[in-house]
Amino acid sequence: MPISTSDDSSKLEFLKSIAPESSEAEVEHKIIVPLLQWLGYESGDWRSQVSFGNSKLDFLIYPEEFKLHCPPFLVIEVKAPDKPINQHGWQINRYMRKVGAMLGLLTNGSSFQLLCRYQDQRRHQDQIVVIANYSASELVENFRLFHNLLCRATCLKVCNVILNNQQRINQKFLIRVAEAFGNQSMLSLFEEQPELSSQSLQKESNLIQRRNKSMIITVFNNKGGVGKTTLTINLAASLARLGKRVLLIDIDAQANLSTGLGIDPLNDVELARKKDITHLLIDPRVKLEDVIYSKRWSHNDLQLDVIPSHIRLSRMENDLTQMVDSDRVLAKKLKNHSYDFVFIDPPPSFGKVNRISLMASNGILVPTQLSSYPIRALEYVLAQAQEVGNYKDDPLPILGVAISMYDQRSNSFNLSMLEKLKDILEKTDGGSQVNIFPEETWIPRLNIVSQCPEKGYPIQEAEFDDHLSSQEREAAQKAMERYDRLASHLIGSIQ
Ligand SMILES: Nc1ncnc2c1ncn2[C@@H]1O[C@H](COP(=O)(O)OP(=O)(O)OP(=O)(O)O)[C@@H](O)[C@H]1O
Ligand SMILES: [Mg+2]
Repeated sequence: MPISTSDDSSKLEFLKSIAPESSEAEVEHKIIVPLLQWLGYESGDWRSQVSFGNSKLDFLIYPEEFKLHCPPFLVIEVKAPDKPINQHGWQINRYMRKVGAMLGLLTNGSSFQLLCRYQDQRRHQDQIVVIANYSASELVENFRLFHNLLCRATCLKVCNVILNNQQRINQKFLIRVAEAFGNQSMLSLFEEQPELSSQSLQKESNLIQRRNKSMIITVFNNKGGVGKTTLTINLAASLARLGKRVLLIDIDAQANLSTGLGIDPLNDVELARKKDITHLLIDPRVKLEDVIYSKRWSHNDLQLDVIPSHIRLSRMENDLTQMVDSDRVLAKKLKNHSYDFVFIDPPPSFGKVNRISLMASNGILVPTQLSSYPIRALEYVLAQAQEVGNYKDDPLPILGVAISMYDQRSNSFNLSMLEKLKDILEKTDGGSQVNIFPEETWIPRLNIVSQCPEKGYPIQEAEFDDHLSSQEREAAQKAMERYDRLASHLIGSIQ
């Protein structure tokens, strides 16, 4: 059970669990393992006693999904409490260089030294610098900084940025190769390239963007209240924290997504003379950028771009139906967007705006609860997805079924519902290829998850709300980890 972060210092009580005469193994079990859990890591994210050469690394933190692409995030070297850590700096320095780890932690359980590796361009070599030295009590005082630097969410974010940049460089290189072969002039590959104009850079970045699997996803389930909007908001925030650029489109007249992100469609949009989704859909002159509202939360450097909705959308069905090529109105407006992920949050019923949403999308995410009615509704969801897919030039795959609001106390009930869900998918046309996201990504039913929309922020911001109790922050942390895993899983499933 992961130990959660909170400003209650008792959460780091385990730091007091060793004595001066304790062994190195005790520091590992009583301090390092709980510390890693507190940082949000799961046992599969790290390996201990990793051999290389004649040496053994105590801990290597390296989430599975990035093993082939990124250097390890963190190396931990552990000493017994009676050994002063300043005599062992050379060892962690050597390990960090050898395995290319980005960060290092050297500890004897009572002193903690944090190290960072960077490349010195002038000397063409890796430099390791000590960034902090803490006693156990100083670590408790600085726990937020320590947590933010070393936690799993930061690790995933950094690895994703590295991965994306690598992909971009590879693609850029391949474009150059292709151009060179196309021109029958391989030699130009090795010539100095002229400075790219901003226009051609834009063109190239659009091309790369498209090849980078930018996704427009409708979060779709015509069963009401299954957690679509809540899941959309928090999943988007997790993706943004992983370095993805995310746009959220509220195309539901209830405007729950807008208000859930602290945007009041009347006061913040209409009375402020700004535009919303209704203007984008109905007015050919209104462009995507005219209706985007950037929401920022400074605590964790989070930004989400949002197109808000308005209740008047509920009276526009007729107007929309009468427009020329009305089903493709949103698809056209999204043609040159530059986001990694666009999420569209439609209403539960299947009407005109759902069709418009699906026609603009290149993937569908289906949230469902593990209970009878929402599961039964999936037959209809799949049929609708297929029907709209037939009208589209590009495929419209179902990226997966995401489980929301499951009850953590009724394991056997959940398993029986899961079987039922699989059964229904098996029996439904096209359903057997639909992937149910794994249990580690399921979102539990937690009060804190339903409180956040009322406060107008995603769950990722709850950690910084001084009005919440430590239990509430603990629950928020737990939910956040699930959304982070769902985000990583979604990225993995579309690559
Ligand atoms: N994981 C969760 N734990 C507890 N409550 C949740 C959770 N997810 C959603 N809720 C609550 O359930 C209710 C329905 O959620 P939400 O509005 O996201 O569903 P929806 O499918 O978008 O609904 P609609 O069909 O009306 O658009 C809301 O009150 C929300 O706060
Ligand atoms: Mg909703």
